[in-house]
Amino acid sequence: MDPFNRKKLSGQSALVTGANSGIGRAVAFALAAEGASVAINYVTDDQATQDMIRQIQASGGKAIGLKGDVSQEGDVQQMFRDLIAAFGTIDILVNNAGIQRDAPLHTMALKDWQRVIDVNLTGQFLCSREAAREFLRRGLVPERSRSAGKIICMSSVHEVIPWSGHVNYASSKGGVMLLMKSMAQELAPFKIRVNSIGPGAIQTPINKPAWDTPQALDKLLTLIPYGRIGEPEDVGRLAAWLASDDSEYITGTTIFIDGGMTLFPGFATNG
Ligand code: NAI
Ligand code: BGC
Repeated sequence: MDPFNRKKLSGQSALVTGANSGIGRAVAFALAAEGASVAINYVTDDQATQDMIRQIQASGGKAIGLKGDVSQEGDVQQMFRDLIAAFGTIDILVNNAGIQRDAPLHTMALKDWQRVIDVNLTGQFLCSREAAREFLRRGLVPERSRSAGKIICMSSVHEVIPWSGHVNYASSKGGVMLLMKSMAQELAPFKIRVNSIGPGAIQTPINKPAWDTPQALDKLLTLIPYGRIGEPEDVGRLAAWLASDDSEYITGTTIFIDGGMTLFPGFATNG
């Protein structure tokens, strides 16, 4: 194939967790557009998953749906077996699945603390462990990529910005930060890259109350110096780049994509 027209992820296969809505959906489409075969993990809404598969196939790509809860070891192991049976191996894991169960500290139920940690943090551990096992077994395939595997963790600005009323969520993302960095340190000698994306406010179902009325959106925009809410496609483009050899020398880093939310916007006119 003409090297100038070669898609950046041609011949590679990817798993995106929580991929049939919001950011995960945009990431799956962005990876497919760069030529990756994509496994769409989901827990609910078979229809949305089937629609995505049809769209990817209609544009000449390959996609499968994999139902499973990322917090359950058995589900994750089955998902990887099915993925490898379908695509032969995995080159890219995007740990995207995540939830919020918000409450003030003094009323937060243990089950809401635990569920958020289970999905957002343990889910990333379980999927990363299976991906690492396959990357290490297979090793480098230079015709496909200069790295032997890529893991992208969907973190958040809340890996560094404390978030009152959301201690479970902020703790899970703070945990993802050191999970990512420790995995990156451990796996770099094997040419496996691990990075995080730290989105600010992106318009998806997870934060609908923060953007679905003009008043809420105005309030949210006071936290975003760049003056607009993020779109899932902003994150999709970044994920495709982080998965590609264009970012080959980057490992162990969080790239914030937040319109400046981490710039302490309250200090722009204060302090
Ligand atoms: P979303 O609610 O549209 O997507 C979350 C996805 O995870 C859904 O498809 C949901 O079904 C799936 N999911 C939930 N529990 C699961 C489980 N146990 N196993 C597998 N999948 C499961 O929300 P969004 O915004 O697209 O969230 C995606 C990721 O981005 C999350 O990790 C979230 O924390 C992160 N994020 C989102 C931001 C935003 O402003 N929207 C900002 C920063 C991070
Ligand atoms: C949360 C969203 C929030 C955004 C910015 C994300 O991690 O899931 O609800 O809008 O951070 O605060």
